[in-house]
Amino acid sequence: MTTPFVIAVDGPAASGKGTLSRRLATQYGLRHLDTGLSYRAVAHALLSADLSLEDEAQAVEAAREVDFAGLDPLVLSTHEVGEAASRVSVHPAVRRVLVEKQRDFARVAPGAVLDGRDIGTVVCPDADVKLYVTASPQVRAGRRHREILRLGGQAEYGAILADIERRDARDMGRADSPLRPAADSHLLDTSGMSIEAAFLAACAIVDEALAAKN
Ligand code: CDP
Ligand code: CDP
Repeated sequence: MTTPFVIAVDGPAASGKGTLSRRLATQYGLRHLDTGLSYRAVAHALLSADLSLEDEAQAVEAAREVDFAGLDPLVLSTHEVGEAASRVSVHPAVRRVLVEKQRDFARVAPGAVLDGRDIGTVVCPDADVKLYVTASPQVRAGRRHREILRLGGQAEYGAILADIERRDARDMGRADSPLRPAADSHLLDTSGMSIEAAFLAACAIVDEALAAKN
């Protein structure tokens, strides 16, 4: 393989894009970047310094500081940080800084799997494979609910569903890089699919693209 092979995975919260992306990266020997963590890192920096999430200049500063190697998923995975991330991610100047870093990551051989909201549309419009992973809001809320209970936490299904619907509306409705499937993406509705079934369906799509590239 001469040029880096890039797989773009987009989709709403709890659609299973992270789980799928990690497995694809292992399967195909690619690096993996969860781009949501970079927006979460910006939100976390502002929250920790008691700064307003609407403060675009401070958010840009925090975005410049983001180092993918130093992102801690455990610290950044909270519900509060996810909600704040979807608020700071509406600032176009923040997106510009992070998108450049994400593109640099994708350019390195042998290639990468990037997951997020705008990978196929904005970050890597020339990706070799574009997947748009989705599931109904009810299924996604159920997954998040089970995940929280499994980790020993407490949560109400109804509150999680409301949160997912609010985040979908913000991510799909923003002016800059809204969440939407790229025209040339493969749609993977995982509502009735196990993790394994989604992985196998994605592998079939990637294998076809690899055969066409080689
Ligand atoms: O990255 P994203 O927020 O899209 O989702 P995730 O963290 O990969 O998946 C959210 C939860 O759904 C995890 O607990 C997965 O194990 C679970 N999941 C599932 O039950 N069935 C799938 N087909 C995909 C994910
Ligand atoms: O894991 P989950 O899907 O809940 O969220 P995430 O992927 O960690 O993303 C958190 C927030 O960052 C999203 O709600 C988006 O508003 C934003 N985001 C974005 O705008 N663009 C990306 N490429 C990735 C995330």
